[in-house]
Amino acid sequence: MSCLRSELSALKNKHYFNYGGQGPLPESSLEAILKSWQQIQELGPFTNDVWPYIADEINKTKNLIANFCGVTTSRVALTENVTSGCILALWGLSFSKGERIVISNCEHPGVVAACKELARRKALEIDILDVQSLRKGVMKESITNDLIIKRLQGILTAKTKLVVISHLLWNTGEIMPIELIAEMLHLYPSNPFLLVDAAQSFCQIPIKQAASTADIYAFTGHKWAFGPEGLGAVILSRRVLESANPTLVGWKSISHEGSIYKDSPNPFHVDARKFEIATSCTPLLAGLRNSIELLETEGTDIERIEKIKLLSKKLWVELKNTEGIETVLEGPPPAGIVSFSMNSVISPKKIVKTLGKQSLWIRVLEDPIWLRACVHIPTNKKEINKLISVLREIALKGKGLDSTV
Ligand SMILES: Cc1ncc(COP(=O)(O)O)c(C=O)c1O
Repeated sequence: MSCLRSELSALKNKHYFNYGGQGPLPESSLEAILKSWQQIQELGPFTNDVWPYIADEINKTKNLIANFCGVTTSRVALTENVTSGCILALWGLSFSKGERIVISNCEHPGVVAACKELARRKALEIDILDVQSLRKGVMKESITNDLIIKRLQGILTAKTKLVVISHLLWNTGEIMPIELIAEMLHLYPSNPFLLVDAAQSFCQIPIKQAASTADIYAFTGHKWAFGPEGLGAVILSRRVLESANPTLVGWKSISHEGSIYKDSPNPFHVDARKFEIATSCTPLLAGLRNSIELLETEGTDIERIEKIKLLSKKLWVELKNTEGIETVLEGPPPAGIVSFSMNSVISPKKIVKTLGKQSLWIRVLEDPIWLRACVHIPTNKKEINKLISVLREIALKGKGLDSTV
């Protein structure tokens, strides 16, 4: 059993396939959070003795994240979740009436809503990049990449200011060629900004190149990193740091609190702290660091994704070989997200409920309506076999042979 798995109390009573929603918290991460909370009470909570401790916690966490993403610490802002990381920098960019935003048709509702509202307020136009129809799987990655670049080339205009796309699509499970997209955008005359939703890529696939080339690369600790909810980060490019204004402004955004009362043309930090706001939950930092360090004991980023791919391939093959089930991807997945649909009289929501009664947890996606099961380092073959055997029973019953489900 993996060292990580033995620490996940959430897995002791269930077969868990919802890592893309939230990862379970290792016991030692919970202990690290509690210990940090105790330390803050011993030193503070609001004393001169506690400030160096808090500063050290923040620095250690930012350094770890910067290292993980292959960027300098000055480009890392701590956030609460993926969405705030995307939005805080996005809304700080300056847009003029009539400029255009390209957004993929596989983005999460929160980011879509923010782009739509931004477009409404600033009179921008939105163009949709179709990536949802590309469902080829890992064997045909280069075909997928070529098609995405061609489609993007076809949609960009001189007025395109921004491209929004996820690194790893939360619904189809395909990986987007972020480095190629970034390279292409840099060569494009209007040099649009590139915002990448990294909710599903951080701590699942190697991200150094993508994180260091995108303009806004936002993620959370509470999914594939096994961190606590309420703590994420965003990596910002130099040009975003130089040209964007902070969206939500607070004492953390400014370089000298005292001087804010005097005239100061630019009171903000020159680094990513410009996009941080105010008081946040310090103990979570120790929890996230502990989780990432634990994950790293399971191998390098390349070794880990290879393990994940073996598991997702097994699940994908078994699903493919089940009558009444259709996998979303034509070939084995490039990472740990395996989506599928069931040709069944039983609704997807009811299927999830039925699985839940047997302590098997997957989720329904809304648009398109698909079922999604995620596998990660702690997943074992026994769990996959169990999921498959119950899905086969449901598939059989869904043909109308048995209506007791
Ligand atoms: C691709 C993607 N983006 C954004 C989010 C929202 O994450 P958060 O609640 O951390 O903002 C999710 C959550 O499932 C997601 O899958």
